[in-house]
Amino acid sequence: MTRFLSALASALVLILLTPGVAAAHAIIDRTEPGIDKVVEESPKKVVMFFSEPIEVTFGGLRVVDTRGRRVDEGATQLVPGRDDAAEVALRRDLPNGTYTVGWRVVSADGHPIEEAFVFHIGAPGKNPLGLTDEILSGDSGSGRVEGSLLGATRWLTYLALILLAGCLVFVVGIWDRTTVPPDVSEFFERRLRRLASSAWVVALFATAWSLPLQGAVAGGLPLSDAFSVDVLGGVAETRFGAVALLRLGLLGAVAACGFIAWRKYSLAELRTVGAAARGRQPSPAGLTLAGTLLIVLLVTPGLAGHPGATPPVWLNIFADGLHMMGVGVWIGGLAVLLIAALPATGSIGDSERAQVMAPVVQRFSDLAVVAVAAIIVTGVYASWIQVGSLSALTSATYGWVLLAKLAVFVPLVALGAFNQRYVKPRLESDGRRGGATLPMLRRVVRLEVALALVVVGVTSFLVNLPPAKLETGASGPFITDTRIGDYNLNVLVDPNTIGENQIHLTATKASGEPARIFGMRVELSMPSEQIGPLPVRGRRLAKGHYVIQGRQLSVEGEWRLEVFARPSRFEEVTTAIDLQVGP
Ligand code: HEM
Repeated sequence: MTRFLSALASALVLILLTPGVAAAHAIIDRTEPGIDKVVEESPKKVVMFFSEPIEVTFGGLRVVDTRGRRVDEGATQLVPGRDDAAEVALRRDLPNGTYTVGWRVVSADGHPIEEAFVFHIGAPGKNPLGLTDEILSGDSGSGRVEGSLLGATRWLTYLALILLAGCLVFVVGIWDRTTVPPDVSEFFERRLRRLASSAWVVALFATAWSLPLQGAVAGGLPLSDAFSVDVLGGVAETRFGAVALLRLGLLGAVAACGFIAWRKYSLAELRTVGAAARGRQPSPAGLTLAGTLLIVLLVTPGLAGHPGATPPVWLNIFADGLHMMGVGVWIGGLAVLLIAALPATGSIGDSERAQVMAPVVQRFSDLAVVAVAAIIVTGVYASWIQVGSLSALTSATYGWVLLAKLAVFVPLVALGAFNQRYVKPRLESDGRRGGATLPMLRRVVRLEVALALVVVGVTSFLVNLPPAKLETGASGPFITDTRIGDYNLNVLVDPNTIGENQIHLTATKASGEPARIFGMRVELSMPSEQIGPLPVRGRRLAKGHYVIQGRQLSVEGEWRLEVFARPSRFEEVTTAIDLQVGP
């Protein structure tokens, strides 16, 4: 039990350490007018194109002149016919000078991103950096707490859905009340019902809570402001909100079906009608409907996350649904075995216990083998879609977290194999010998459930990170976070292909505020082709934010980017990053 609780606590700690506003998953492809570009005439609008679908319900684009006066008109909207570009109209005939665009959008996978850039009409004005500092150090009220709570609700939602699936699987395919003494069955079914209703309540509350939390995180608001009708209405209009509402509706329907199915299965009936009722199974129609609804429920996380935002979308959602079903059968089944089935046999003698449990474990083990195979196949597929290469696996945070998940998964599978190969056959012969294997089974299953809690915790963290493929630039712009001196450094290389590129270097303090940096430069080299180092000095765009523009990335392949930053007039700190430049 202690191990159980410590696994629970460590997984929770992991989620609570998830940064408040997650690293953004959509990145800018291009803007009109271009970042820091000079245009001859006053543009009619500002348009931003992103690497993936975005939502503009929270935030949008705000354009100000150097005195902070708004020059945009009307609401920000998606460019007609596109879901990856946003635009806002500008006042007519703006005077020459520098303008700052502050923007905030939400990626299709539910993660917010905000930044600012400048453009110039005619020529740069007196302050060519515009008001990016003011805008970025401005009004974000949502912090680590809201993001961490959102991570915790995700973890609880996964656990609750997995447990619901495990309960259903046990009723339909594993527990056979006709072969079990009535007292044992009564205990089991009471526990199962309590387990299923607790999981249902947790799923309901975690999903309902995720709505204001997502509003706070997406809109950069303190949680206290996120319960307003406006914010909740805004969340309901986003993909995240629609999926959460769908999940609430499905949970309502599952409860109704479960209730109808279970009435027929009632143990009270078994008691009064006796043996005649023992052969009865829960209503097949009710169970089929509950099963179908549960399958859709297991698909909902994928609809709102990376699978729903990464092409091929429908194949990814299908694979993710299978992944969740496999997890529901195996991990949910293990939890039911531990919490309901094994304790149910506590009141009978050792050899009878072994006789009752042997067929249960046999059926569960057979089903678990299929479930584990489905988890591995769909997990490898999702890894390939979100990571794409071995170098991305080891150079992106997403890759490392996925490796951490696998590091816990491997002993989990090994324990499963131990059960299958060693415990199950011994249990079958145990009936005759007096049931010495059951305590061992309980210990192994307890350890498995504890490890599974950690795997699900790590996954809650994983799904909040930018996919490794995006982070390493294997598909499109390269974006990564690293450390330089005492600061966090965000590096964006766009478009990360041969030819003209922009390299954005943004240094921030641990609190997320821009860092005070006196200058930044980079040295680009391609050791395999003996190119470089090519030194380039960064141009300051905002506090802690420098940009480098040029054609130095002239060959496809692995480049090394050495960044030098001056946190004071007398000190220089450095860091190196490898990136894969596309054709
Ligand atoms: C007991 C084992 C496992 C459990 C409990 C588990 C659980 C989960 C859960 C709950 C999700 C989130 C689904 C969603 O939000 O749509 C997920 C996604 C994922 N899993 Fe697993 N998983 C397991 C094994 C594996 C394995 C073996 C792999 C790799 C070979 C893997 C790779 C992935 C990937 C890449 C994702 C997608 C994450 C994203 O959306 O960015 N999983 N897993």
